[in-house]
Amino acid sequence: MNLFQDMKESIANVLSQEMEEMVSTQQPGWSLERPFYTDPAIFDADLEKIFLRGWLCAGHTCRIPKPGDYFTYAVGNESIIFIRDHEEKVHALFNVCRHRGSRICIQESGSARKLVCPYHQWVYNADGSLMKARHMPEDFDGANFGLHRSHCRVAEGLIFTCLAETAPDFASFERDIVPRLKPYALEQVKIGHSRQYEVRANWKLIVENSRECYHCGPGHPQYCRAVGFAAAIDSPRAAEEDSRISDERRENLKRLGIDSSSIPFDPEGWHHCRRFFLRNGFVTESMDGKPVAPVLGRLTDRNVGVLAVVGLPNLLLEVSGDYAMLMRVSPVSSVLTRIEMDWLVHPDASEGTDYEVDRLTAFWRLTAEQDWKLCEDNQLGVNSSWYQPGPYAPDERGVKHFVQWYLKQLIQS
Ligand code: FES
Ligand SMILES: [Fe+2]
Repeated sequence: MNLFQDMKESIANVLSQEMEEMVSTQQPGWSLERPFYTDPAIFDADLEKIFLRGWLCAGHTCRIPKPGDYFTYAVGNESIIFIRDHEEKVHALFNVCRHRGSRICIQESGSARKLVCPYHQWVYNADGSLMKARHMPEDFDGANFGLHRSHCRVAEGLIFTCLAETAPDFASFERDIVPRLKPYALEQVKIGHSRQYEVRANWKLIVENSRECYHCGPGHPQYCRAVGFAAAIDSPRAAEEDSRISDERRENLKRLGIDSSSIPFDPEGWHHCRRFFLRNGFVTESMDGKPVAPVLGRLTDRNVGVLAVVGLPNLLLEVSGDYAMLMRVSPVSSVLTRIEMDWLVHPDASEGTDYEVDRLTAFWRLTAEQDWKLCEDNQLGVNSSWYQPGPYAPDERGVKHFVQWYLKQLIQS
């Protein structure tokens, strides 16, 4: 082992001891200490231990319907190209030229017969193999200079990637989540609309916000008109209505042959899902409760509630009977997070006739933008020297679970 490696290893040891100490002093059931939301060193650890190790949802295959179509997904310093080849296969390639390291795809999406590095024009095939390198000596062996590959899995059209050498288990997602998504035929949808946000908050504040509805009553009055369990927190009448509706609708789903059971959160795993039902008068997550798009997949009844899928660390998917809202949470810095949202609709739906973008997106645009404001205000308070961790309410057990999962990842070697 050389001196440089020795130094690197001992610095890493000191850092991981410090990290373990910080993690061990966290009070269970309370929010995290400030550095977890602000410190660039902890942000680097979040990237290394979580985002560069786990399965990340990068987007949906309908973004790249034809051979040569590609899009890029960025996390931390990394950028991955997702490109479809002539045999329809999707490849995940590190966006780093094997010559001198330039980014290859500069645009976020496009279509290209070959990937050409803009710097000295090395040319790569869609599978990442090097096709041509100008003016290189005769003994140059291009076979050794293909683009590095990231793990790639496609499940119901959702493209997942893992940037680590060894990827964690994916079979559990295929076993638990995929069968519940099948009735919606998500592998055939198209994008009705996409939107990106830059939220001035640490990524964990955003995930925490999405794991509880303690804030929903005051924070999302419109959401609570549609979602019973959210309104139920502040209203015994809504609680009674929610449990009655849930029982009736579960029976209905049974008749339709749809599995309505949940996969509860497991701190050892990375995904979970639950189905919930909307209040009387709402058949989908829309502002007025009325349909916003043609019914998805092989569903014969619109009134199937909402299937919410969480994939830690970056995926939130909410599927109603007529559209799916796909959200990715991607950290940019300790206090900045990029959010990408896609509204997915039936592949034959035409805009203007079968759906209007404003109606399709209004519910989640409003709800999400209300959340970004809450998260940014949360970050401002956490930045203050007067911030100190506070206790979670019983309605925030989802946050407690997430924080438990998060701290466990941080101390893994
Ligand atoms: S850096 Fe890509 S061809 Fe030179
Ligand atoms: Fe919210």
